[in-house]
Order: sequence, then structure tokens, then C-alpha cells
Amino acid sequence: MWDVIVIGTGISGLFTALNIDEKFKVLVICKSQINKGNSYLAQGGIVYCKNPEVHFKDTLKAGSYYNNKKAVKILEEESILNINKLIDFGVDFDRDINGNLKFTREGGHSENTILHVKDKTGIEIMSVLVDKIKSKKNIVIKENTFAMDLILKNDELLGLKVIEDDGIINIYNARTIVLATGGIGKVYKNTTNSVEITGDGIAMAYRAGAHIIDMEFVQFHPTALYTDKSEERFLISEAVRGEGAILKNEHGKAFMKDYHESGDLAPRDIVSRSIFNEIKGTDKDYVYLDITHKSSSFIKKRFPTIYEKCLKENINIVKDMIPVSPSEHYLMGGIYTDLYGRTNIKGLYACGECACTGVHGANRLASNSLLEGIVFGNRIASHINETLILSSEYKEKNKYENKEKVFVLSNKDNIDILKKLCIIEEELNEVMENYVGIIRSKEELKIALDVVEKLKARIENINSRSFKYFEVLNMITVSILIIKGALGRNKSLGAHYIDKV
Ligand code: SIN
Repeated sequence: MWDVIVIGTGISGLFTALNIDEKFKVLVICKSQINKGNSYLAQGGIVYCKNPEVHFKDTLKAGSYYNNKKAVKILEEESILNINKLIDFGVDFDRDINGNLKFTREGGHSENTILHVKDKTGIEIMSVLVDKIKSKKNIVIKENTFAMDLILKNDELLGLKVIEDDGIINIYNARTIVLATGGIGKVYKNTTNSVEITGDGIAMAYRAGAHIIDMEFVQFHPTALYTDKSEERFLISEAVRGEGAILKNEHGKAFMKDYHESGDLAPRDIVSRSIFNEIKGTDKDYVYLDITHKSSSFIKKRFPTIYEKCLKENINIVKDMIPVSPSEHYLMGGIYTDLYGRTNIKGLYACGECACTGVHGANRLASNSLLEGIVFGNRIASHINETLILSSEYKEKNKYENKEKVFVLSNKDNIDILKKLCIIEEELNEVMENYVGIIRSKEELKIALDVVEKLKARIENINSRSFKYFEVLNMITVSILIIKGALGRNKSLGAHYIDKV
């Protein structure tokens, strides 16, 4: 019997686990490896709320005033406390020559308030958290373990059904479970997300009866590197615009001032739609981001990862403009939680991108996501620490007796099944990209729903117990939730933009 199981090893999962009292037995699981996932890809940084009133206004403005104001206030009040914990753990944010923290700016922000480690903030934070968690005696880490479903009896959470690395379906009894599985990136053809991000936690929570809200609010990052290869879309951090880069169209014209008073630093939803508009009717699928007016030494020092990656694509950002286009980046909706990360299922918490406290409203402000992970992760841990009694004092009356046969089988598909799953996934990616993207219409959303429901029927006829099978099933589940959410909202708001009703 585990006191706490944390599913997911991004910043939210690890920070939650690290703040749980050492007297509790904690299991942390992930379906691939602990050093993979979205948090590693975070470039820009993390907001340090030195001026809460300004941050409050910016967060609400970016979120189209749809935010849960109480959640935003908490984000601000608890920002510095939790960032100081990261610093105490060993995260080495960039500092000036006097040793003071250095701040940068991104879209939607009125002032420089973002801490960073060059353009690899995620890598730095995650390396520190992974080292820290490995040193904890009360925490066990299990990689290559796929969380299939939550186990409930009379609405009470009893544990988790998993597929182990070797194909065994197993049951872990747990008194509390924290879902920290990230968003839904891979349902789209173009995403900045890591390949692991398939909506697993949201789909699992939905099957268990958790409230899922605001799924129509999908954020498209304006500046993913455009290449003609179909692969993960590499992010060109908004911090590049924060440091002065300018978006230009195919004629070399800087266009953002035509769309918004904040120009290149307008909120993301507005920048992405403006790019979409600039591309429309041209024979190019991208616009350009120009930072060539900055010195070569500044660019290489401030953005080493972006510089190197672009160079591999034969783009020297010191003298060439960078081809960029919008790409799916973040989900504002998800599993509804209160301000302690509690869902409507007793014992089940959710944190980070899979959760929806309402903090981001209809469009997240840049660099608020890592902050959300640590602030609400810490609140969940504190709530568990205060309310969970020790296992030794706890009567295991509710322990789940696994009367089901435990299957020992292969979790790898044969080639025919694998092909079928890949085809379903490709069709899903196409329909989500083309019909449920930056600009939507009711008509196209209805077509998309019909297509995805047919994909659901197809996958339900496939007999498989592989990780891949459950990932594609989960992607279909969350896609249906996104489309239904979009169909249910008649007016444009934030990242949900309806062209024709
Ligand atoms: C970026 O660096 O542009 C991404 C940061 C974020 O998603 O907040």
C-alpha cells in the first residue's frame, strides 16, 4: 500500500513528490524515462512575481479575463517562496556580474520578470529535481510503467492499474494519487511537445468520473521552427522576441504592430492568429523571426540551444531570419481542481498542465506554467502532509483485492496491429490539425467529431494491451473532449477562436 502515487515526472510531479513529508511512502511512476518529457523542453523561464499587481493584470489580460482570480493571486503570493526552494535545491538561474538575478520578458508581460538559465531553463531545473528525488529514501521511482486506469470503489479511490515494462498488468494500492501527466500535444500533427504527451492522465481521470473542463482552450505557440520534416516542432522561445526579435512577413515587413499595440510582445493567441493571417493566401507556410540586429556574441551566449539547433538546419540566426509558424503548445483546460489540487474524486489530485485550477483562463501567459507546477505542487504536498495519517495508523480496510487474472503478455504489438494504430494516430493528427486548430468553424468541428468518433470505433475493435494502444486510445478520448468543448462554446474567447458559427 502506497501513501501517495505520483504519475508523471515533469516539474509538477517531481516538485510535489519532493515536498511530501518523508514519513510517507511515495511511488513516482512514468511511462518512459524520468529524464524525458515537456519540462525538459522549457526554454523561456519561470515567472518570479516581484511585482504581483502587474503580474495579476498581465495574467488576466492574456487569459481574456476568464481566469480564476483566487488561483492567480495564489500563484503570485507563493511564487517567490517556491522559486527560493528551487534555488535552495541548487537551480542556478542566470545572474548579473553583481550576483543579482537576471530577468527577461516574453509576450503579454509588461515588465521583465522571468528568471531563466540561458535558453535551457527546463533542463537545468529538471536535472536538479531528478538528482534530488533520487536521494530521497521515502520515494521509489518506477520508469517504463504505464498508468492504465484508476481503481475506485463507491467513488473512493483505491489504487491504480498499470502495465509494467515486461507486459504484466499489475495493481498498486494507494491512499492518494497525484496526476501530473502533462497535456495533450501529440493529438496535433504540429506540436512543440515531447512525444510522451498523449493526454493519458486526463483520459484516465475522465473514465473514472473526474470533472474535465475548458478543453477547447488549446494554446498555439507562435514561433516554432519551421522545417519541412514532420517531427517534434522545435520551439523558438518567446524570450527571443523578449530580447528584441521582430516578426516579419514574406516581404520583410514587420507586421505585429498592425494587429496589436504591444506588437511582437502581444499575448500568444493574438500573435499566432496574426501569423496565421499573414500566411493565408501566400505560397509559404511560415513567416520570419529576425534577431540579426543583435550582436553575434549576445545571440550565441543568450540562446545557445536555439543557435545550435538552427545551425543544424542550415540557418545561422546571427545573419539569417528564422522561418517560424505556430504550433500546438499548451492546454489551458483539463482536470478540474480546487486550490489544493483536489479533484471531485476523494484522494485524487491533479497538478500542472493536466489540471485546471483556472489560473490561466482562456490563454496562458508566458512562463506561468513552470510556476504553476511548483506552486500548486507544493500546495498539494502540504494538503497531503496535513490530512493523510501514517500508514501504520491507517486500517487497510479498503485495500483492493485483485481478483482479476493478472495477465502476463507482451506489451509489444505485432506489425499488423502497430500499423493499424499508427494509421489511426496519423488520421487523428490530420483532423485535429486541420479542423480543430487556431481558427475554427462549427461546421469543421462537427466533421472532426464525426471522424474522431469513427476512429474510436476502429480502435475499440483492436485487441492489444500495448503502451501504444492505450496512448492512441487516450489521444482519441481527449480529442473528443476538445472538440465537444469547442462545439459547446459559441463565442470566441482567448485561444478558442470561432470564425464562422
Ligand atoms: C517559450 O520559451 O516561449 C515558452 C515558454 C512558455 O511556454 O511559457
